[in-house]
Amino acid sequence: MSYHLNIRRGEGGGASRWQRFESPCAAEDSVAHALEELGQREFLQDETGEVAERIAWDCACLEKKCGACAMVISGRPALACAVSLGAAANPAGEITLEPLRKFPRIRDLQVDRGACFAALQEMELWLEEEADLTNRERRELHYRAAGCLMCGLCLEVCPHFSAGRSFVGAMGVAAAFRVYDQSTEGSHRASVGQAYRRRFFSGCTKSLACQDICPAKVPVEKLLVKINAAAVWHRKQQWEKEK
Ligand code: SF4
Ligand code: FES
Repeated sequence: MSYHLNIRRGEGGGASRWQRFESPCAAEDSVAHALEELGQREFLQDETGEVAERIAWDCACLEKKCGACAMVISGRPALACAVSLGAAANPAGEITLEPLRKFPRIRDLQVDRGACFAALQEMELWLEEEADLTNRERRELHYRAAGCLMCGLCLEVCPHFSAGRSFVGAMGVAAAFRVYDQSTEGSHRASVGQAYRRRFFSGCTKSLACQDICPAKVPVEKLLVKINAAAVWHRKQQWEKEK
């Protein structure tokens, strides 16, 4: 069976058009692999024979570890290196590839997620100290929160997120939980708590679509329970009571 990649192409906020490419890759090959194959052709032509510009998309690790290759694959936001052609295609072998819709498009499948990273910086989400993670539950939660790839897929499906507004979505929760929980009482912890309440808690209605889509399986709901207890209701965590 041959696969056909229908790629939504365009630049910036301008008009976009679909361009269709036949792929010789196998069902078990990833969408990222098929895009790489297109990028390695000496002359790129679409299925009508029209000479095509190189397709712009982001990737780095190709191992589901960096989050760069997030895009919309046959209507579902996902990592291109995590989805096989066989899984993405309809029975006719057709696959659609589109850029994430919640972020400004740069070109083709490339988007600008810079505003999200700037928002995390504004929230002062950096660790100033390391907490004692001997408690098993605490260690496990930190480990899983640290698995966030910053891919932005959670923001793509979040009903409350739109680029340029202050709501930071699950990406912000994963980072805020780690910093807030590891910080001791003081001005940094207080400002992280304040930023969390303003930039997440006041806007979230817990659809949890973020948790379902997350390729890193970040346990968003568990993190919310913990950080809400600490940063919103000022309750001590069980592991703090054990000290
Ligand atoms: S929480 Fe999951 S979906 Fe959201 S940025 Fe992190 S890894 Fe991606
Ligand atoms: S290229 Fe790194 S997650 Fe896909």
